[in-house]
Amino acid sequence: MTLQQLITASRSYRSFDRSAELSRAQLTAFVECARRAPSSRNLQVLKFRLVNAPVECAALLPHTRWAGLLPDLQLPPAGHEPAAYIVICSDLRLAPNPAPFQRDVGICAQSILLAATEAGFGGCMIGSFSPDGARDVLKLPEFLLPELILALGKPDETVRLTLPAPDGSVAYYRENGVHMVPKRPLDELIL
Ligand SMILES: Cc1cc2nc3c(=O)[nH]c(=O)nc-3n(C[C@H](O)[C@H](O)[C@H](O)COP(=O)(O)O)c2cc1C
Repeated sequence: MTLQQLITASRSYRSFDRSAELSRAQLTAFVECARRAPSSRNLQVLKFRLVNAPVECAALLPHTRWAGLLPDLQLPPAGHEPAAYIVICSDLRLAPNPAPFQRDVGICAQSILLAATEAGFGGCMIGSFSPDGARDVLKLPEFLLPELILALGKPDETVRLTLPAPDGSVAYYRENGVHMVPKRPLDELIL
């Protein structure tokens, strides 16, 4: 796969084949890609909590919010939940003010999702979640602030890129069961 093909395949998936598990070793290999990523001032203030025990996965799910633009859909559908999560946390001992390191979070998140895609998996970044709930469920110490949750598994839905609607809307939508994601064309992006 070329890098462009990998990035195209790495969509936000919200439905997973529960028969495919993700081992701790596989999750660790994904984090190895984040470890090699650029880092503001090279401080490397982010820590990664691996979650693949079924009990912990089930406890974390209710603290996450999915596809806010499609409120009538229950996502992930029952029986199609993620097999694992990686919770990206700021280590407040290294960064008492974690705000400047939000870019690092994004870089690590995309690195992990690309690694997961290359390995035949996929997932979704979840920024809409309860940090207190996640901290409770995962028994994280006070000095770890959950910043972003990566839900991971073997996708069992189809996601397709398309162009914005004639009225310019870039809201994602469902068409015949396919999740459609409008992306603005290049000539709108390049100044
Ligand atoms: C920082 C960030 C946070 C996100 N948080 C959520 C979320 O809380 N719940 C969700 O269902 N999707 C979330 N998404 C996924 C976006 O909705 C998704 O990237 C967008 O619809 C485009 O789809 P694509 O990733 O397939 O290109 C998030 C994406 C990013 C980059």
